Amino acid sequence: MSSDRYIDFANSDIGRRLVGAVGLPVPVHLERWQAGRLRPIEGTLLISAGPLADHVRIFAQRLTDSLYSFGSDQPGATAWVAEQGPKLKAVVFDASTLVHADQLKQLREFFQPILKSFDHSAHVLILGRAPESLSDPLAASTQQAIEGFSRSLAKEMRNGGTVQLLHIDDGAEDQLEGALRFFLSPKSAYISGQVVRLRPCSTHVQDWSRPLSGRRALVTGAARGIGAAIAETLARDGAEVVLVDVPQAKADIEALAARLGGQSLALDICATDAAAQLIQGLSGHNGNGIDIVVHNAGITRDKTLANMTPELWEAVLSVNLIAPQVLTKALFDSGTLHDNGRVILLASISGIAGNRGQTNYAASKAGLIGLAKAWAPSLHERGISINAVAPGFIETKMTADLPFALREAGRRMSSLGQGGLPQDVAEAVAWLSQPGTGAFSGQVLRVCGQSLIGA
Ligand SMILES: NC(=O)c1ccc[n+]([C@@H]2O[C@H](COP(=O)([O-])OP(=O)(O)OC[C@H]3O[C@@H](n4cnc5c(N)ncnc54)[C@H](O)[C@@H]3O)[C@@H](O)[C@H]2O)c1
Repeated sequence: MSSDRYIDFANSDIGRRLVGAVGLPVPVHLERWQAGRLRPIEGTLLISAGPLADHVRIFAQRLTDSLYSFGSDQPGATAWVAEQGPKLKAVVFDASTLVHADQLKQLREFFQPILKSFDHSAHVLILGRAPESLSDPLAASTQQAIEGFSRSLAKEMRNGGTVQLLHIDDGAEDQLEGALRFFLSPKSAYISGQVVRLRPCSTHVQDWSRPLSGRRALVTGAARGIGAAIAETLARDGAEVVLVDVPQAKADIEALAARLGGQSLALDICATDAAAQLIQGLSGHNGNGIDIVVHNAGITRDKTLANMTPELWEAVLSVNLIAPQVLTKALFDSGTLHDNGRVILLASISGIAGNRGQTNYAASKAGLIGLAKAWAPSLHERGISINAVAPGFIETKMTADLPFALREAGRRMSSLGQGGLPQDVAEAVAWLSQPGTGAFSGQVLRVCGQSLIGA
């Protein structure tokens, strides 16, 4: 589902010539995950040397059947030779051992020869250590330098390629497979230039074809747009879904719930008795409690501050921030949210960068990011993670309603040169819902095509 005609035009014969002649960016159709696909990587995976890379080699053959190593032969992998090796669909570079500034040249030495060999929609992952976890200031500075490198490489990628930096804490190596299945596959098509940290976590995915099997997930605002895509994706991954939306959208959530084999609850999340209704709706004959809570319902009421009425302010703060705060606390205090639960808050890059005409919206979304950061340490005791997902420009009704110039700017001002799809946000939420992602908490994952806004 893309109403972005510019991509089609820019990739047509005549369009490509015209667009090139006037120097406009040429966004490409991104490869997305298709239902029924089994292998995360359909193409060649190249792995560097290094201790974290050795952990990746343990499970790499489950990711792809075309495995190459850089520099030397490794068991089960062929040595990759520049200009002779196959095109690269995925690359893992282990930068965790770089502790002196003069070792940073290894980044150039590794990546320069492979730049021309990237396949369409290739995914690059650099593995490092969180600078704040290192006691030696020079080592921390060296690891921080890798962030600048990876964000810049992300901006230089072509043909829909992406780059992320993954910080792996000691003891979190056993969470690499879940992260790689996400970041090296089309599930992360619209995520680029991000830095993510994995900490140790005792829970693991049992079955990669249905990682959410046996888990029950609540999704608010599930009638359409991003919320409906999240419900579909969580159900695809094996979760039993409970769909919430306003009473006016009752028919839509009932139809979707019937199709996904889930449950629907028509409910205004701002109602004074919303928490009680929710807790009651989540217990009873359909089962007890919940494992995954996705606060997706959100609204915009844009006006510059000069023209912002109390009603517009209240409406946005109530739906976007107060309801997620109140409902999460109630689900937590009542024990409805199970141990090892996952809470995911739909923020926005407006909440990171601010946006003209969105003082109310940006405040609400920044508040959600604050909620994830502040709550993560205490929820950790029960194995619960809480994270924010910050979408950039996503093709939905919310963005279709924007004035033309704003809509075009939103799409093009990113490294991937286009808006994302609801599925892109849904895949990120599904990954954060997995048992293993307890390793990831109190963080913000941007799904924005490396938007220039707030980057
Ligand atoms: N579309 C984007 O580009 C974009 C970008 C950044 C963040 N987001 C965020 O993603 C989320 C989903 O966005 P979308 O574009 O799919 O929006 P949408 O307007 O298409 O859907 C939002 C859904 O939330 C429901 N909802 C609104 N108020 C509710 C309430 N009081 N109780 C229960 N349900 C309620 C609506 O009925 C609707 O079904 C929102 O939180 C939004 O702020 C969207």
